[in-house]
Amino acid sequence: MIPINVPVIGEEEKREVLKVLESCLLTHKTGEGPYVKRFEAAFKSYVGCREAVALNSGTAALHSALLSLGVKPGDEVIVPSFTFTSTAEVVLLAGATPVFADIEGETYCVNPESIKRNLTERTKAIIPVHLFGLPAEMDRIIEIARENDLKVISDSAQAHGAEYKGKKIGSMADISCFSFYATKNMTCGEGGMCTTNSEEIAEIIRMIRSHGERKAYETVTLGHNYRLSEVLAAIGYIQTLKLPSLLEKRRRNARVLTEELENVEGIKTPYVPNHCKHAFYLYTVRVRNRKTRDRLVAELKLKGVGASIYYEKPLHTLKFFRERCKLNHELVETEEASKTVLQLPIHPKVSDEQIKEIAEAVKSIMKSFKGFP
Ligand SMILES: Cc1ncc(COP(=O)(O)O)c(C=O)c1O
Repeated sequence: MIPINVPVIGEEEKREVLKVLESCLLTHKTGEGPYVKRFEAAFKSYVGCREAVALNSGTAALHSALLSLGVKPGDEVIVPSFTFTSTAEVVLLAGATPVFADIEGETYCVNPESIKRNLTERTKAIIPVHLFGLPAEMDRIIEIARENDLKVISDSAQAHGAEYKGKKIGSMADISCFSFYATKNMTCGEGGMCTTNSEEIAEIIRMIRSHGERKAYETVTLGHNYRLSEVLAAIGYIQTLKLPSLLEKRRRNARVLTEELENVEGIKTPYVPNHCKHAFYLYTVRVRNRKTRDRLVAELKLKGVGASIYYEKPLHTLKFFRERCKLNHELVETEEASKTVLQLPIHPKVSDEQIKEIAEAVKSIMKSFKGFP
């Protein structure tokens, strides 16, 4: 089976991990060990921002970001529903209320008009998600935030290396949060990073990362243990250096797959606006209805293609979130996308031959569906 995503780990990562193990400094008491610092420096230089703070997950990064901005009980935070659990979960962890906004049908990212429809006196922040690796409409979202005195936390967990109008994702929002979970475009197994251009915010996130301490054993605010270990930071550091080449292969695979599939009847290939560079964490195609989608995925699996469905149950449809979040209007595009999208493997380990195999499998299955509702 060609898996949907796998980590690409080489000799360099193994060598650096061994160095950490031999040094016996497996972690640092304030989270600021030498490899964490190296990882942060490399990552902020890649993104093109002033500050980067490494944490032990993308969820920890999002949660710390909300806390650093003072989001608290009674506040509302606008999030898409078509996303991974963490985007809304962290708002609940901060004691605030997630408010679900709809997406744009073509990009699958949050729709700025829907953000506007959900603004209230209580709104404190917006969390756009650069879903599947495609940037959300950042200029418009930042404009809405400025007009309404709100903060923007960009959920960049899937968008390492994505670009919006020539700027890297991670350099535009008040705070951007990345994940280095094992399937992501770059990984250290589990890990996260907050990037920001504010020294003050970075300083608060550093304190939250390690028990609210300004220095060891001096707690000044409520914090957590969100420190990243030195072992994982060593892997993250090497992966940051490799990110451009990992992305190049993803983008090449995506381009070839689009060339193969763009004229196949019933298949809509990924839309990439001219002002965006997609990071292709997931290559997402769309078909006419749920029945076709589910059959296509099942048959692709029988042919050895690890096709997947991301976000079949948008968060607002789950009882847990419905009981705790606000839904002010119907999420028409979210519901439609959740029924009709599927993902195909294009990660860096997918060979040129396998891309052709995937394309051929999709074409022959779609052909056999002719006349299918
Ligand atoms: C959109 C999105 N947000 C947040 C996260 C949370 O990241 P992590 O799994 O590192 O906590 C993920 C990743 O899994 C994600 O895909």
